[in-house]
Amino acid sequence: MPIICEGVGYKYPGSTEYVLRDVNLEIGEGEAVAIMGDNGAGKTTLVKHFNGLLKPVEGTVYVDGVDTREVEVSLLARKVALVFQYPEKMFFSESVYKEVEFALKNFGFEERLIHKIVEKTLKTFWLWEYRDRSPYTLSGGEQRRLALASIVSWDPKYIVLDEPTAGQDAIQREILIHLIWRKVREGKTIVLVSHDVEFIAEFSPRVILMHRGRILYDGEGDELFRRRDLLEKAGLDQPILYKVASSLGIGDGEVTLARLIDYIVGLRPCSD
Ligand SMILES: Nc1ncnc2c1ncn2[C@@H]1O[C@H](COP(=O)(O)OP(=O)(O)OP(=O)(O)O)[C@@H](O)[C@H]1O
Ligand SMILES: [Mg+2]
Repeated sequence: MPIICEGVGYKYPGSTEYVLRDVNLEIGEGEAVAIMGDNGAGKTTLVKHFNGLLKPVEGTVYVDGVDTREVEVSLLARKVALVFQYPEKMFFSESVYKEVEFALKNFGFEERLIHKIVEKTLKTFWLWEYRDRSPYTLSGGEQRRLALASIVSWDPKYIVLDEPTAGQDAIQREILIHLIWRKVREGKTIVLVSHDVEFIAEFSPRVILMHRGRILYDGEGDELFRRRDLLEKAGLDQPILYKVASSLGIGDGEVTLARLIDYIVGLRPCSD
């Protein structure tokens, strides 16, 4: 069952301006979708509707066929996990271990399983050695990993990551990419909110492009990354491979690193 937005409009309390306008979309089960757009486009506001943190002022959001206005936020939170753009705001436990343990207890996991899951999760995210530290003493990148670890531990059906690559070094980005693919293979639905065109281009999933609260484009990432007009409007740069391909005059074909290398090698004058 999908996440569906039908004619969704939203304005924050006390404000007259709509920051989401007539948003219509459907995110199917097992899909990997990126939501991209400029600062203030409404990306974070939109994804907060997916787990019921915000309720639409106009239109309706359905998660697995249920109107989010008619279901308890705690039930939705179990199903749709959101890692916030600023995860440090969501920590409330005194240790890294307890931070992961908390949600599992809260969702009623069996005591004897909890320790195993916490240990496995913290090891997977290279955080086991920090288990007794306060989450607030971790570096920014480690905090992001902890936020992700704590939701992966309870195995939600939908995973929404708001700017997951912010502050992550190259190794952590690779790990994140592997993790996301693994979750997609397991049949989870992944929503990535990101400005990071290079990161999203590696997946080339479906991209929903937002600008001023509206959807400007919803389709193949590969097609969007060729559309400089749309990217510019949404304050995004073209991914480097697409730039190189178009300056070589081969931007209309398939854009992959392997193809560019083949092409460039073919251009090299032969030396005998
Ligand atoms: N709590 C709030 N009260 C009033 N306005 C808000 C609130 N949070 C966000 N906004 C406004 O809503 C609009 C959309 O904000 P949102 O955070 O959804 O953008 P975003 O696309 O996630 O941007 P960014 O890329 O900077 O994270 C912005 O104009 C912002 O100023
Ligand atoms: Mg945001």
